[in-house]
Amino acid sequence: MQQQIQFTYHLFHNIQDLKESDAFLLKCARDNTHLAYAPYSQFRVSAAALLSNGKIVFGTNQENASYPVSICAERSLLASAAALFPEAHVQTMAITYHAMQHNSNKPISPCGMCRQAIIEHQKRYGQTMRLILSGETGDIYVIDDATALLPLAFTSTKM
Ligand code: THU
Repeated sequence: MQQQIQFTYHLFHNIQDLKESDAFLLKCARDNTHLAYAPYSQFRVSAAALLSNGKIVFGTNQENASYPVSICAERSLLASAAALFPEAHVQTMAITYHAMQHNSNKPISPCGMCRQAIIEHQKRYGQTMRLILSGETGDIYVIDDATALLPLAFTSTKM
């Protein structure tokens, strides 16, 4: 029997069209791309998230001369959030980037490893996470449930 998994997201052309709290979060993320450490890829990624306790936390990619040691913005954010406010969960995460060598006008999309980390966060707290994906300019995607980005994700049977 054939099965189908559908994926729905919201498309916006302007930051002004987002609801106020989403627009604020995305602006925070866009303002922070300079905090990334990306001397190898020249691709600065920045994430800002609203937690369930009302706090906002940030993450940027931090690279290493030994490339696999590098960490993405999304996972650096999730690690910060869990370290600082382990009782709170991420409600919404805005992700953006500044590419030093080309335009930054297409929405970014989290890598596979970050999708897996986001799924773990959702499982841990039993809550869905909203994502706002964008570049410095151009279209913005809003995804109501990040699980949609990793269909049939691996999860431990112990959870
Ligand atoms: N990167 C992120 O920080 N998040 C993503 O979703 C995709 C990729 C980083 C990893 C590396 O430092 C640089 O972007 C280029 O791949």
